[in-house]
Amino acid sequence: MYKIGIYGATGKVGSELLKIIHIRKFPYSKIRLFASQKSSGKKLIEDKKEFIIETFYKDSFKEIDIAFFCVSGKWSIQNRQFAEESGCIVIDNSSAFRLFENTPLIVPEINIDSIKKSRFISNPNCTTLIAAIPLWVLHKKYKLKKVIISTYQAASGAGKEGMDELLQAISQYRENRVFKPSKFQYDLAYNIIPHIDDFEINGYTKEEMKVTLEIRKIFNVSDLLISCTAVRIPVLRAHSESITVETELKPDINEIRDLIKNTNGIVLKDDINNNIYPMPITSSDNFDVEVGRIRKSIVFENGIDFFVSGDQLLKGAALNALQIAEKMVERTV
Ligand SMILES: NC(=O)c1ccc[n+]([C@@H]2O[C@H](COP(=O)([O-])OP(=O)(O)OC[C@H]3O[C@@H](n4cnc5c(N)ncnc54)[C@H](OP(=O)(O)O)[C@@H]3O)[C@@H](O)[C@H]2O)c1
Repeated sequence: MYKIGIYGATGKVGSELLKIIHIRKFPYSKIRLFASQKSSGKKLIEDKKEFIIETFYKDSFKEIDIAFFCVSGKWSIQNRQFAEESGCIVIDNSSAFRLFENTPLIVPEINIDSIKKSRFISNPNCTTLIAAIPLWVLHKKYKLKKVIISTYQAASGAGKEGMDELLQAISQYRENRVFKPSKFQYDLAYNIIPHIDDFEINGYTKEEMKVTLEIRKIFNVSDLLISCTAVRIPVLRAHSESITVETELKPDINEIRDLIKNTNGIVLKDDINNNIYPMPITSSDNFDVEVGRIRKSIVFENGIDFFVSGDQLLKGAALNALQIAEKMVERTV
């Protein structure tokens, strides 16, 4: 039984973690919840148990076996050392250390063995995670040459402030009032914004480059060609992605459907005659990422187009983090 600490427990990712630890019956003796001073003393109820939020303090790591970092990159950079000195296992949801050579970046269905003996593990970016398993299925069977991704990302990908801003913007729009955004660059109500995170010198955003660099690291293919365009849309929860791949070997649509049906973590939603395809409305609150609209590309000779939708707070964050912890616990039993 483990003593768990959720750091950032009042946020979108932290609060999902508290929920799924109970749903998946993770073996714990105690869970402690930490957030900023402003949340101190707040109560969260889960599984009929009451949890009180504590103000974060560095020495708390000494009383924790598994720490889930769900705050921000800056906070993770400030606190990694204290957690490591205390000897606890850390699973970090921030982007701060994902590309560090000595920090494993893990999707349990793909590269769990890369953990080796590390006690500080990075959880990949949400957009990376939603695409990773179907891409891995295709890579193993047909070898990926090129990947082109366009994303449709929910407001809650920007945390609870992002979600609140969308709800506020919609209500102001309905009242014909001008809305001044603070979290997003523009009013997101009935709009889309092709800009997530800062722009880099090559014209891509940091979010887009995270997808490229993280997939290369997880797949251990340093020269895989991946181009991503990341777009924020006025959906509250679950990210969707339109993906085109070119493969070395000739792909077969029926074989791909069978592979998807038989792979943990993804579910086939691909029946155009009955209007069955992946959507945020069906993928939200579910553990599996939906995959559908699978078709042979009319551009690449060996190419496939498909569409995915997955809950970015679950497989895109909290669920993947908890699956990493589950695997680590399995290994120590
Ligand atoms: N949202 C997503 O879809 C998603 C997906 C993948 C990864 N991530 C990553 O996961 C992390 C958390 O994201 P989120 O969306 O859950 O953010 P969020 O909703 O904005 O929550 C942030 C949390 O951090 C807490 N916090 C702020 N300052 C703190 C401090 N000084 N000490 C301790 N706690 C503090 C907040 O507490 P208060 O309530 O007290 O302010 C809140 O609990 C980020 O690194 C993010 O990039 C997010």
